[in-house]
Amino acid sequence: MASSGKPVVLVTGGSGYLGQFIVQALAKANFQVAFTYHSTAAPSFDGDVQAFWDPDTARAVNVPTKLLDALSQHATEHGSHPLFIHLSTDQVYDGSKSDWKEDEAGNAVNVYGKTKLEAEQVIQERWPNHVILRSSIIYGPQSRMPVSRALFLQFVARQLAEETPTSFFNDEFRNPVFVDDIVSVVLRLLQPGTTQPGRLYNMGGPERLSRVDMAVKICGCDKTHPR
Ligand SMILES: NC(=O)c1ccc[n+]([C@@H]2O[C@H](COP(=O)([O-])OP(=O)(O)OC[C@H]3O[C@@H](n4cnc5c(N)ncnc54)[C@H](OP(=O)(O)O)[C@@H]3O)[C@@H](O)[C@H]2O)c1
Repeated sequence: MASSGKPVVLVTGGSGYLGQFIVQALAKANFQVAFTYHSTAAPSFDGDVQAFWDPDTARAVNVPTKLLDALSQHATEHGSHPLFIHLSTDQVYDGSKSDWKEDEAGNAVNVYGKTKLEAEQVIQERWPNHVILRSSIIYGPQSRMPVSRALFLQFVARQLAEETPTSFFNDEFRNPVFVDDIVSVVLRLLQPGTTQPGRLYNMGGPERLSRVDMAVKICGCDKTHPR
């Protein structure tokens, strides 16, 4: 990627739901942006943005060892370790209680959570200049290019539009976080001196909701008066 003198950011998974919002916000904030995509056609963005096809598969999705290998080589050659912001999940916790704190050990109960936890540990060991964001479930508007795996909000909206009766868990609680708030956090972290390297933050919205609570909110009705 030719240098334009602007700060450069690489967004892995830039064709994904969150990735698309982050790429566009970075380009708008005058960063030079490179992003990877995998199976979909690369979305197009306004600004100084370049797409790279990423053929890696399987576990590589969640545990970025190959990415760290490539970055380590680059860092050795250039003598600098740029900031690595990693999107993790609240699913590193086992759900046995609420209000988890960052200094409590993760104990994931599903494969997704386990691989995200493994990714955190690999990054902590290999890349000191990192920030890990343990995000709760993300919600927001449709992305520029629709993603193959619908977010919960879009899934419920579709079920509602098609009038398909659907069951939801009432014992899985999350703190849904608005996509623009995550983008703001990422932009903030890219400002020099905002945080110390090696930090880990939980990232969630203000309300603790079950899947039923979320579905009810999306439907714009309450539990006693369904639409
Ligand atoms: N969505 C949530 O509620 C949520 C909550 C907490 C944390 N997170 C974390 O936030 C990040 C973004 O989530 P998201 O929901 O926006 O993800 P997403 O829409 O599923 O996007 C995944 C991205 O990864 C790429 N990808 C998939 N398989 C790949 C492979 N084998 N090799 C290389 N790239 C591959 C996809 O490329 P193609 O689309 O081109 O195939 C896409 O760009 C993830 O790290 C996720 O774990 C998400």
